[in-house]
Amino acid sequence: MSDVRFSNLFSPVHIGSVKVPNRIVSTGHHTYLAHQHPSEELIAYHEARAKGGVGLIVSEIIAVHRTAMFSNQLLMALNRNCIGHYRKLADRVHAHGTMLFGQLFHPGRETRGSEIGMIPPVFAPSAVPNERFHIMPQPMSTGLIGEIVDGYAFAAACLAQAGFDGVEIVASHGYLPSQFLNPAVNLRDDAYGGDFERRLTFIREVIRAVRAGAPEIAVGIRISADEIDDQGLSAELVTRICSALTQELDYFSIVTGTSASLVGSVHVVPPMGVDSAYITRYSETIRKEVDKPVIATGRINQPQSAESIIASGQADLCGMTRALITDPELPNKARRGQLDDIRACIACNQSCIGRAHKGLGISCIQNPVSGRETKYANTASPDRSKKVIVVGGGPGGMKAAVTAAQKGHRVSLHESASRLGGQALLAQKLPGREEFGGLVTNLEHELIRSGVTVHLGSNVAVQSLGAREPDAVILATGALPYVPEFDGWNNDNVVTAWQVLDGTATIGAAVVIADWRADWVGVGIAELLTLSGCAVTLCTNAAMAGESLQLYTRNHYVARLHKLEVAIKTHARLVGVDPYSAYFQDTLTLDPIVIEPADTVVLALGHRAVNISGNAPDEQSYSITSIGDCVSPRTAEEAIYEGFIAGNEV
Ligand SMILES: Cc1cc2nc3c(=O)[nH]c(=O)nc-3n(C[C@H](O)[C@H](O)[C@H](O)COP(=O)(O)O)c2cc1C
Ligand code: SF4
Repeated sequence: MSDVRFSNLFSPVHIGSVKVPNRIVSTGHHTYLAHQHPSEELIAYHEARAKGGVGLIVSEIIAVHRTAMFSNQLLMALNRNCIGHYRKLADRVHAHGTMLFGQLFHPGRETRGSEIGMIPPVFAPSAVPNERFHIMPQPMSTGLIGEIVDGYAFAAACLAQAGFDGVEIVASHGYLPSQFLNPAVNLRDDAYGGDFERRLTFIREVIRAVRAGAPEIAVGIRISADEIDDQGLSAELVTRICSALTQELDYFSIVTGTSASLVGSVHVVPPMGVDSAYITRYSETIRKEVDKPVIATGRINQPQSAESIIASGQADLCGMTRALITDPELPNKARRGQLDDIRACIACNQSCIGRAHKGLGISCIQNPVSGRETKYANTASPDRSKKVIVVGGGPGGMKAAVTAAQKGHRVSLHESASRLGGQALLAQKLPGREEFGGLVTNLEHELIRSGVTVHLGSNVAVQSLGAREPDAVILATGALPYVPEFDGWNNDNVVTAWQVLDGTATIGAAVVIADWRADWVGVGIAELLTLSGCAVTLCTNAAMAGESLQLYTRNHYVARLHKLEVAIKTHARLVGVDPYSAYFQDTLTLDPIVIEPADTVVLALGHRAVNISGNAPDEQSYSITSIGDCVSPRTAEEAIYEGFIAGNEV
């Protein structure tokens, strides 16, 4: 019996002849856990989501042809040997009543050449390059097009034999079918291009071939309702395309954006600055044009929002992809009405797409088990319940405390401030990053549920810990702003980013930001102070503002600075400050850079560790483990991961 508030979300829906048990979908996402075929890591990852109650899982992209070499760790279906591997995935997902579709994929000109190493030959409808990967494609011959169409049919047949319930042709995000559909990219004047109808030939041949190869399973497409780029497919054109294809397909999976450009790619995995559930603006229009189920995906991270989308007819199913990466149990928790227990995705893009773009297996900043299910999903219980003291209530300390308590230990957490959250409390004050505080809210709830005793305003001296008779101590004392002693470092016009965010800094009209880490802080303070009326110059040590950020996140926030006409200086090393000017050095030429006026200079130069473990007595009867920034200042991702490991290993 489902919670009555979710009567639409937990009602079944038919896609073709497939009955999907509820309306929550894990849409395709490249996990980097595959080795051509589903690995045990990938199977365990999807199994956890199926067990968590998701209605439909769509696999990540599966290459349909030898020319579809998009990235490393790509799934493939190029020969019949793959069938047994895909069957293992299908069986483990089906065991929980979840349906499974496979994404049929060819990237065309969208190949991540630098990641693959040696760039393979790249083919597209025409010799029109994209803006992101800097690779000139070769126009496809009709012979090659025929081979690729056959590849779609072959891959669909393999997946059907493996027990998949459906296939999804990836026509979204500027990949090959979208390239054929796009008049700015398809310059052909043959059966595959020249006018609207001929640009539909490729996708129609693919759909027909897939139906012939796998007649018994559902067939849909994923398409960007608007590629959000002047060179991409427009909303108007995509609505017309969907309308023209509606009789040939069983469903439409709607997203936005394109991989081809910086502005369009922001929407491939929209960061937290993009409105929650914004996709419904597009899915609603397309749903009116097609008479097949529509899946809407993009920033839907709560069941309440998914329920209202379905109830209001803006979509038939909701992709909740990162929401499920963060909390695989979201569907079960919603069904049981345990809404406060859901760990909501904050769209930080750090460990999911952030790791994938580094060629690393997917995970989640808030859920280190995600992508690591084979290692951590079922760890052994400890022999006995231990007394654990955690010092420091930032995200790392909170995670350590929760993890140890969930294993059955008696845990107390001491935080010297009056609130838990550490640096995350400051990070959430940056414009468009308010949701970052969700990380603290989620952990606070987990602390209560797991029975951790929290002491706020509690300064614990490491020398006194022995008197409390712990079995284990975890130190998570964090870091403070790094202020090197450059000329003028202690002038009145020099403040730290933390002082700006906690409201203790006096800010003048002309602000210079010295940004060393090239992360959210420099970019975010630049936006914050510009919006408050200051004239801001962002001087970053890096080759571009926000260089350390995940690509889509960076491009979203740097675009906001461009709109505000913030002056940005790159390759700039801070060397000194006087009451009127800030002095930098160009890191390529060593030439001086003088910025004036500089009424206020904001230092965003990273942090220095606050580590108290050196004060511990030489010999103790308990273990001491230091984690996160107090070991070495990095990001919340490392702090939470190390907190999880330390809590797990007590
Ligand atoms: C790590 C990662 C990899 C992705 N890879 C794919 C993919 O293989 N195929 C695809 O169609 N979309 C891919 N996406 C996009 C997702 O399917 C989804 O559209 C996106 O995450 C936005 O939805 P959400 O806000 O519910 O997470 C990927 C997303 C992530 C986070
Ligand atoms: S890393 Fe961030 S964006 Fe990705 S799933 Fe986790 S919370 Fe969501």
